[in-house]
Amino acid sequence: MERLQKILAQAGVASRRKCEELITQGRVKVNGTVTTELGTKVDPQNDAILVDDKPIHLEKLIYLMLHKPTGVITSLHDPQGRRVVTDLLTDIPERVYPVGRLDYDTSGLLLLTNDGELANRIAHPSFEIDKVYRAWVKGTPSKEAVKKLATGIRLEDGMTSPGEARVIEQEAQRTLLEITIHEGRNRQVRRMCEAIGHPVLTLERIRLGFLTLAGVKRGEYRHLTKEEVERLKREVVQKTL
Ligand code: URA
Repeated sequence: MERLQKILAQAGVASRRKCEELITQGRVKVNGTVTTELGTKVDPQNDAILVDDKPIHLEKLIYLMLHKPTGVITSLHDPQGRRVVTDLLTDIPERVYPVGRLDYDTSGLLLLTNDGELANRIAHPSFEIDKVYRAWVKGTPSKEAVKKLATGIRLEDGMTSPGEARVIEQEAQRTLLEITIHEGRNRQVRRMCEAIGHPVLTLERIRLGFLTLAGVKRGEYRHLTKEEVERLKREVVQKTL
């Protein structure tokens, strides 16, 4: 158990003195109740502590970009014992969570963070971040089929919203498509390609907003730079407020 103002300061809310002011101003809640007592002892692991109704972050906030390989689950734990994305993070003591998900058999750019607020904003449907995929599909889709991928296609959970689609490479038996979507429905790109009759053979996410995988090899990860985090925050705030 620790004094509330100490915990707030540790979480990076503000200086200890400023945190004391926040408490006496009635801006801090512990387990749903406004707490104006300066000496209040709290258990940071188990008490829900809010400042201006926002949860405090006890850990340093970190932001990672992982080049997810196939054969790894986007989850923190798999009951079947398969590898999960956080198994790939070898020197990250913080508990980070994936932002959105990539299928077991999809590779590519996955963000991981312990900044719940940013993660929620990115996942919010009104934040139309570009999600760009490269998909090798079976056969040779017609021009009309590629156009349909971009303009919208009826799936069992409704029409897809407009995006982009183009042919990058053509081989005898397969075609490489680049598909940009703004939604994140379950197995969306696979279902879209299936719907035009050209099932996905391999799928990789190569870009998320302004972030690309440049310099990050498959299975590796890096911290986002301060500038990248700031830009991401600026963009999500502009779009979702
Ligand atoms: N669309 C899919 O079908 N799979 C993914 O992993 C991501 C997007």
